[in-house]
Amino acid sequence: MESDRLKNEVARRLPSGRYQHVLRVMETAMILADRFGENKEKAETAALLHDVAKAMPKEELKRITEAEGDPAAVLEFHHELWHGPAGAVIARDEFGIRDPDILAAVRFHTTGRAGMSRLEKIIYIADMIEPGRDFPGAGNLRAEAERSLDAALTACSAHNLQYLASVRAAIHPDTLRCYNDSLSLGKGALNR
Ligand SMILES: [Fe+2]
Ligand SMILES: [Fe+2]
Repeated sequence: MESDRLKNEVARRLPSGRYQHVLRVMETAMILADRFGENKEKAETAALLHDVAKAMPKEELKRITEAEGDPAAVLEFHHELWHGPAGAVIARDEFGIRDPDILAAVRFHTTGRAGMSRLEKIIYIADMIEPGRDFPGAGNLRAEAERSLDAALTACSAHNLQYLASVRAAIHPDTLRCYNDSLSLGKGALNR
């Protein structure tokens, strides 16, 4: 699907504030793709689709995820996590996306996972550092993303873990694995 049609179709499915976030993630992802040698078209498509399921009712997200067998047991965790896996199903079935890397980038953009591809890292990070994000520490994450994708991945997943623990939320195993794996990439503070 070409870019304008894709944008219109995504815009139709999201409240305007969420769609504006998606456009900022797209711009950020394309900058990161340029910086770190990823295909910009793939970054654009994955970013445009990453939150495609975000506005769907919980029951619908659950139905879609269950139909896939819920391989990551995401339904056992907070419903905030459900739109990633469900979004990948929608990208595949309703947008005809066949590229497994784009589908994984959509699926894992909230939890992360061990062994993320460059594209997956870009979408995960862009989602957190797009210019509309103003949580404390966002500037640090942006600074890491200026120099190294793996350092930014460590910083972003560490931020997520700290946040989840601070609000006493359960931590999905893929989130923990993403953090641990990012340290083994050699960019963790203790490995420097
Ligand atoms: Fe999301
Ligand atoms: Fe997002």
